[in-house]
Amino acid sequence: MNVLVIGGSGLVGSNIVELGLDNGIEVEATYNNTETEKASIKLDKTDSDQTASIIERINPDVIIDTAAYHAVDDCESKRDLAWSVNADGTRNVAAAANAIDAHLIYLSTDYVFPGNPEDAPYSESDPVNPPNYYAETKYAGEQASKITDAVTVLRPSVIYGLANDNFVTWALGELKAGNELTIVEDQISAPTYAPDLAYACLRVAENGITGVYHATGPDSVSRYEFTTILADVYGYNPELITPISTEEFGQEAPRPTDSTLNATRLYREIDYEFRGPEEAFEAMQGG
Ligand SMILES: NC(=O)c1ccc[n+]([C@@H]2O[C@H](COP(=O)([O-])OP(=O)(O)OC[C@H]3O[C@@H](n4cnc5c(N)ncnc54)[C@H](OP(=O)(O)O)[C@@H]3O)[C@@H](O)[C@H]2O)c1
Repeated sequence: MNVLVIGGSGLVGSNIVELGLDNGIEVEATYNNTETEKASIKLDKTDSDQTASIIERINPDVIIDTAAYHAVDDCESKRDLAWSVNADGTRNVAAAANAIDAHLIYLSTDYVFPGNPEDAPYSESDPVNPPNYYAETKYAGEQASKITDAVTVLRPSVIYGLANDNFVTWALGELKAGNELTIVEDQISAPTYAPDLAYACLRVAENGITGVYHATGPDSVSRYEFTTILADVYGYNPELITPISTEEFGQEAPRPTDSTLNATRLYREIDYEFRGPEEAFEAMQGG
């Protein structure tokens, strides 16, 4: 199996590349702005000609498209950019995948759901209703990806790990420095450990699984609880963390209150259950 990872310089992409190479899978990877040792092919998915010609030249069996513009609040004002990457760019990748009959795996988000607590956890058959512009563009990306037949849509949530900057690496830095953190207590989801998502992507690729799957961890936690578990496992002072409401915190883009997804369908398909925060943080410490 020959895999092309689009966005190989990112958090999920770099985990897929690492895991794939460790397991003897032939993996090539692209970057947009940040070239890395293992993601050295320049590909801007908003450029349809460049995307088509690189994908045609590499001719992979599987394309894993992790690339996105996902600064959720900035997407409200930078609408053209968000749409061009997340919707149009994804269409360019899907068209190129279709042209060479490659299996496309597209990473979407839990934010496609409005996040009403009475509806969570959401299953794949629940109706979407994106609550902000970022989510609208990601859902448009889901639809665009489906212009090719062999496609898998995976919906993760709050992705974390040690590679690249993310919420957890930021929180660890603050806790280590003894800084106080103010974290929202009324945004709930089931965070996704990046190495587990990378494993799922490769299993989906190997087994030729298609369709829409939720791809989150098994535990539903508020962002505040998630951060206190982190402090606990790492032995930092949890009193540095103060809960705040979303209303007080004041973010540009509306957020779902509870976007917990039920990922058991994916766990069954790949015969693997993702780790919850405690187990994942312990693995991070060990690694
Ligand atoms: N992070 C989360 O909490 C989260 C939650 C739910 C869903 N998701 C989704 O999961 C996916 C992976 O997220 P992540 O955390 O791994 O993101 P990330 O670390 O920010 O990586 C994004 C990747 O996309 C690339 N990229 C950006 N614009 C591009 C363009 N125009 N053409 C080609 N590549 C481009 C970046 O390349 P350069 O860095 O080289 O510019 C980078 O490799 C995304 O689709 C995101 O929407 C993320």
